[in-house]
Amino acid sequence: MSKVVRVAVTGAAGRVSSSLIVRLASGEVFGPETKVILQLLEVPASVNPAALKNLEGAMYELQDCGFSTLKDVVITDDPNVAFNGCNYALLVGAAPRGPGEQRSDLIRKNGAIFVGQGQAIAKNAASDVRILVVGNPCNTNCLIAYSNGRDVPADRWHAMTRLDHNRAVSALAIKAGVTNDAVTCVTIWGNHSNTQYPDFTNAKIGGRPATEVITDRAWLENTFVPNTQERGKFIIDTTKVSSSFSAANGAIDHVKSLVTGTPAGDWTSAAIVSKGEYGVPAGLVFGYPCTTSGDGNWNVVEGLKLDAFGEAKFKKTLDELLKEQEVVKDLLPS
Ligand code: NAD
Ligand code: LMR
Repeated sequence: MSKVVRVAVTGAAGRVSSSLIVRLASGEVFGPETKVILQLLEVPASVNPAALKNLEGAMYELQDCGFSTLKDVVITDDPNVAFNGCNYALLVGAAPRGPGEQRSDLIRKNGAIFVGQGQAIAKNAASDVRILVVGNPCNTNCLIAYSNGRDVPADRWHAMTRLDHNRAVSALAIKAGVTNDAVTCVTIWGNHSNTQYPDFTNAKIGGRPATEVITDRAWLENTFVPNTQERGKFIIDTTKVSSSFSAANGAIDHVKSLVTGTPAGDWTSAAIVSKGEYGVPAGLVFGYPCTTSGDGNWNVVEGLKLDAFGEAKFKKTLDELLKEQEVVKDLLPS
């Protein structure tokens, strides 16, 4: 008998989710032997009459793909239905920023969404649920959801730094004139924001320290780091809308790693509820270097060293997350 996995996706008619749901349905993530039930949430018609109608259209198109791995598609405006028995909850539904905005400008607009969704996940999800928050500002939205859904263990709640990770890998590969697979051991420390620290000091290119392959330290510090931090803004400035299929790809990669594992000798980046690793206060949702055996659990890579440049960047992103926590403290039950 084939396995069935229920995947809830919020904001399912939005730009990121439109790229995400077709790949979840296709068998790419959970394999050809697993049947997928997509449980798609959108806002009620009273909030936006087009959203559920667009979702209905997406459901028909998913049916028309004829995927052997797609068992069912549920569309709903009720979080209790969307999260019912779900094994994965991908929380994408939230307003994106526009030109001139920081992700943190969304904090009060989007934060409240994650109070009700955290509660609904705790009430309805399967006992093995894993949650990935994509909606921005994703670290702090994840903190809100987790704080309101504490019946679900802390290690199940993740926020997405995988897009930043993929961006950093690609930027180093282009600079070194190699393909992406030659770049390993990249870390996005901290917040999915322009304070994140894309750590090149522990990264490798072709198995050698990245700093030995790219010897232009000024480029690493003054071009690679800010360009990775500001890549989301760069996309918005270029297209007037925020990233969509690359964001969906980051979410796919995050879940795929949890299902199939990270390669030996490498790690990836994920923001998770800190247990105090690297001196981060426990409970904060912080981006770390992570491995997984494919058992659905992230393990933080311990013992990495940062130089003075990295220490300063680490402190800055940690300070920002502590400030964000303060801004939403009324949404965090004690
Ligand atoms: P979008 O506006 O195209 O879609 C968002 C969808 O969410 C809309 O269809 C909206 O109706 C829905 N929605 C809003 N509130 C909801 C709720 N309470 N329940 C269910 N659905 C709800 O936006 P998008 O471009 O798809 O981006 C979605 C979010 O993802 C934004 O916050 C964006 O900033 C974020 N994002 C994060 C990353 C990352 O790397 N973490 C990358 C890209 C985008
Ligand atoms: C991104 O990094 O592309 C997203 O978080 C969207 C944004 O607002 O930058």
